Amino acid sequence: MPTPGGRPVLRGLFYVRPPGMGGIDLRRARRGLQADGGPNDMTSQPAVPENRIAASLKDLNLSFGGVSVLTGVSLDIRQEELLALIGPNGAGKTSLVNSISGFYHPQQGGIFFQGRDITRLNPVQRFKLGIARTFQNIELFSGLTVLDNLMAARNNMMKYGVISGGLWFGKARREEIRHREVIEDIIDLLELESIRQSVVGALPYGLRKRVDLGRALSSKPSLLLLDEPMAGMNSEEKEDMARFILDIQELWRTTMVIIEHDMGVVMDISDRVFVLDFGRKIAEGTPAEVKDDPRVIRAYLGIDEEEAG
Ligand SMILES: Nc1ncnc2c1ncn2[C@@H]1O[C@H](COP(=O)(O)OP(=O)(O)OP(=O)(O)O)[C@@H](O)[C@H]1O
Ligand SMILES: [Mg+2]
Repeated sequence: MPTPGGRPVLRGLFYVRPPGMGGIDLRRARRGLQADGGPNDMTSQPAVPENRIAASLKDLNLSFGGVSVLTGVSLDIRQEELLALIGPNGAGKTSLVNSISGFYHPQQGGIFFQGRDITRLNPVQRFKLGIARTFQNIELFSGLTVLDNLMAARNNMMKYGVISGGLWFGKARREEIRHREVIEDIIDLLELESIRQSVVGALPYGLRKRVDLGRALSSKPSLLLLDEPMAGMNSEEKEDMARFILDIQELWRTTMVIIEHDMGVVMDISDRVFVLDFGRKIAEGTPAEVKDDPRVIRAYLGIDEEEAG
């Protein structure tokens, strides 16, 4: 829907909590926190220590054909945090995730992962170091079963080739057993048991998104990038997905960056929020800090600087 400022309106605004998530504060419920903003209030205090950095983006500049998509973007992603990446449509969120995972190569700037410069590495090299992602559009083999999709994704991690694998000897056998254990862990974690033999293409959309999350988890990544994992879901499916994401953080200690438009979800589950607008960072902080930031409200309402005064 166009706005007076000509900007697309977001699918959610800060003060709107969707019905399914309303009243259920997943993070508070899980960790038994006080709802009245006591010393443990997650909305006012960062949940993750600042000094442990999983990945750093330094002054990224990305453009296509002279059109700037990211301008001077710097960000420290903290170890084990759940960082929400938000901003209006076309702000550059997917481009930033593409830059971290190696699908896009910014013309300027540096990307560091676990202290190592990965700026020049390709997506496969970054994947092998422990960076995995989901896509805005589901990327699964729709003719294969859930189990086969997870196994196929995990196969990318296999070290031993056809000969040793085929002969079923030693290390190859141990590797196979280890792979199956990881897949079974994912099936348990994401509650996929009842559909493990179902063909993916026949599953409802919400379940396919969940399998896609399982696919991304199959490499047991230390940094997981989720591009709109709840897009197109109903509120019940969103609640399930939010619960799984919190489970992954708590049980697997995975650092996560989640692009999400539903502000009820962002406020409930994220440790910190990073806001992009027109390819630039406009705010960064706890959900409570960002929610009240005038620049963020202005960007979301589509008001031009001049109009805002
Ligand atoms: N490969 C590309 N070639 C040219 N332009 C691109 C390319 N990828 C992204 N862009 C442009 O970069 C801008 C940011 O796009 P991006 O997909 O990163 O936005 P987004 O914040 O993820 O938006 P949405 O919320 O709609 O998913 C857009 O103007 C888009 O057209
Ligand atoms: Mg996007």
